[in-house]
Amino acid sequence: MPVNGRKRMVTITINKNQYLAEEGEIFLLTAMRLKIDIPHLCYEKALDPYGSCRLCMVEVVTCGKTEMTPACTIKVHNGLEILTDTPEVIKHRNILFELYLAEAPKSEVIKEMAAKYGVTKTRFLKKIVHDDPLLGKCILCGLCVRVCSEIMGTCAINFINRGPFTVVNTPFYEHNPDCAGCAACARVCPTNAIVFEDTEKDRVMRSWSGTTVPMMTCSSCNKPFAPEKLMHEIQSRLDPQINEDIRNMCPECRRRYISRREMKIPIT
Ligand code: SF4
Ligand code: FES
Repeated sequence: MPVNGRKRMVTITINKNQYLAEEGEIFLLTAMRLKIDIPHLCYEKALDPYGSCRLCMVEVVTCGKTEMTPACTIKVHNGLEILTDTPEVIKHRNILFELYLAEAPKSEVIKEMAAKYGVTKTRFLKKIVHDDPLLGKCILCGLCVRVCSEIMGTCAINFINRGPFTVVNTPFYEHNPDCAGCAACARVCPTNAIVFEDTEKDRVMRSWSGTTVPMMTCSSCNKPFAPEKLMHEIQSRLDPQINEDIRNMCPECRRRYISRREMKIPIT
């Protein structure tokens, strides 16, 4: 618990060495800060840990017994004891890398990460990725689905089908008018699987059945700068509202306008 707004420091043991760490912090973050290497793909600060990729598995030691647990779901507490590189952890991690090499055979992120840990081949059947809107790079971690529903409140995409046929896309693979074109899905995707493109007038979410969202044009320079629907959504949540003069300006024109106004330079 924080004392006077400051985090309490507690003692934890990692690979038999003792460290001071912030109580309550996600263990994966503590390990990263301590430069203890734990591979991970699906941890995203903006979302609650979900533990879907299972790559960050470590062993938690309790009363002499160990239990495999994802590092991104462990909260630091006094006396926490973790092992990050036991033969069990390494075996588990290597199998997962092999699975991901088969599931996402075109992902350079996976290939590089796996090679770093000595895995360069897979014994599993590689997924056929002909015409895959996610370019043969998706590991089905679900981050895109979660950011769309939990952060943006949109639910424009979801898992479709079951078992080996599971994919992420829009319902019925159709253009989804619910999509605001925010591209948060592409930003959180750990394997860069999601493709979108900004044209003169629209943002086209190529991976999401070509869903097309019109762009807003800057009221000053006339350049398209952000999806219209997203801008309206943001503006509707702001209180107080942005001044009418700058409401529909791109960030660059808006900055220029405000600094000229503050320096009392005539605005043309
Ligand atoms: S597209 Fe990316 S973020 Fe979405 S499930 Fe696949 S790997 Fe995860
Ligand atoms: S980062 Fe922990 S399970 Fe994916």
